[in-house]
Amino acid sequence: MKKLAILGSTGSIGVSTLSVVERFPEQFRVVALAAGKNLSKLKEQVVRFQPEIVSLTSEADAKDLRAQLPNFRGEILWGSRGLNAVATHPDAEMVMAALVGAAGLAPTLSAIRSGKTIALANKEALVISGELMTREARHYGVKILPVDSEHNAIFQALHGYQRRQVKRIILTASGGPFLHRPARELLEVSVEEALKHPTWKMGSKITIDSATLMNKGLEVIEARWLFDLPPEQVSVIIHPQSIVHSMVEYVDGSILAQLGIPDMVIPISYILAYPERLPLNHLPSLDLAAAAQLTFFQPNFDKFPCLRLAYDALRHGGTCPAVVNAANEVAVENFLAGRIRFTDIAELNEQVLCAHVAQLVTDLDVLFEADRWARDRAHAVLKRMQPRAVASA
Ligand SMILES: NC(=O)c1ccc[n+]([C@@H]2O[C@H](COP(=O)([O-])OP(=O)(O)OC[C@H]3O[C@@H](n4cnc5c(N)ncnc54)[C@H](OP(=O)(O)O)[C@@H]3O)[C@@H](O)[C@H]2O)c1
Repeated sequence: MKKLAILGSTGSIGVSTLSVVERFPEQFRVVALAAGKNLSKLKEQVVRFQPEIVSLTSEADAKDLRAQLPNFRGEILWGSRGLNAVATHPDAEMVMAALVGAAGLAPTLSAIRSGKTIALANKEALVISGELMTREARHYGVKILPVDSEHNAIFQALHGYQRRQVKRIILTASGGPFLHRPARELLEVSVEEALKHPTWKMGSKITIDSATLMNKGLEVIEARWLFDLPPEQVSVIIHPQSIVHSMVEYVDGSILAQLGIPDMVIPISYILAYPERLPLNHLPSLDLAAAAQLTFFQPNFDKFPCLRLAYDALRHGGTCPAVVNAANEVAVENFLAGRIRFTDIAELNEQVLCAHVAQLVTDLDVLFEADRWARDRAHAVLKRMQPRAVASA
C-alpha cells in the first residue's frame, strides 16, 4: 500500500490522481490533501478519502470546513504551514506536486527535504529552481518522477538506456487552439477561444500557456533539469493529434516514442505505480487506424514568441527562468481577467526578461527575490498596456 500526499487535490491533476487511487484502493491510500480555495470539492474528497491532514489557503475556509465536517478526526490547516504539513506528512512516501505556478516551489522543496518521492506535475516549481531542486533531490536521495505527459513519455523511452547514448529529446506540442490562426488575428482572440484546447482538458493556466506555446517553453526548461541535457539537446515539434507524447533520438539514429490517447490518467498512473504498470481497462485503446494520420511540423517561433523566450531564459541561466515564469504568471492572470490581449502575454514576458540582469542562484532567497522583482516589473509594464486593452475592447 503506497501512501500519498497530494498538493493541489482539487485541480485537474489532483482530481485525476484521486480517480486512480479510487480505482486501485488496495494499492494506494491518501494521507494528506492540500487545496487552494475550492472548499466544496475538498470537503467531498475528505469524506471520500479520509486523509489525516488537509489544508486550504485561508484560515476562514479552514474553519468553515471544520464546521461542516464535525466528525472528521484529522487536522485542518491553512496557508503555507498547511501546505508544508501536507508536503511533509510523516506517512507519505510519495507527494503529488500538482499546485499551479510558483506557489508549489516551497512545499515541493520541503517534500524533497523530507525524503519523499516526488510525482512532479507542477512544472513551474522546477522551471524556477531547476539547479537547486535537482541538487537537493540528489542530496536527499529523492526521485523526481515526471507526470507531465511529454516528460513522462521521455522517461519511459529512456528506460534501460544510458544518457550518453541520447542525441536529443523531442518534445511534441499540440500547437494549441491558434495553430492555424493567422498571426495578425491573434491580437483579437478572446479568453474563451484561448481556453478551448483542441486535445487536452486541463486547468486554465496551463491551457493559456498551451495557446501561447509558453507551456512548451516551460517544458523545455523542465526537460533540461529532469534529464540533465543542455538546451541544444531539447527540441520541439508540433504534432496536432497529441498521440505521440514525445520522443528520444539515440546516437545511432533510432527514435523511441511513447504513444497513447491524450488522457493524463495514463502518465499519472504510471508514476503512482512506478515501476509497475496499472491495468487501465476503463480507457479505450489507442486506435491508430482511426487516427489515420500523425502529422509533424516545426514550431513557428515568430508567431509564438513565448517559446523562443523560454529558450533564451534557459540559455541565460541563473534567475532568468524564474523571472520569465513569474512574468508569465502575471500575464496569464491578467489575460484571464480580460485586462490584456492575448499577444500582450508574450510582449510582457519579453519586456520583463529583457530588463533582468541574471543572478547566480546560491539559495532559495535569490529565487524568491527574482520572482518578486519580476512580478513588480510585470505590473509596471501592465500599467502601460492597460489603456491599449481598454481601447481594443
Ligand atoms: N492539467 C493537466 O492536464 C496538466 C498536464 C501536465 C502538467 N500540468 C501541470 O500541473 C500543475 C497543475 O495543473 P492543473 O491543470 O491541475 O491546475 P488547476 O486545475 O488549476 O489546479 C491547481 C490546484 O492548485 C491549487 N492551488 C492553486 N494555487 C494555490 C495556492 N496558492 N495555494 C494552495 N493551493 C493552490 C488549486 O486549488 P483550488 O482549485 O482549490 O483553488 C488546485 O487544487 C500545473 O503546474 C500544470 O502546468 C497539468
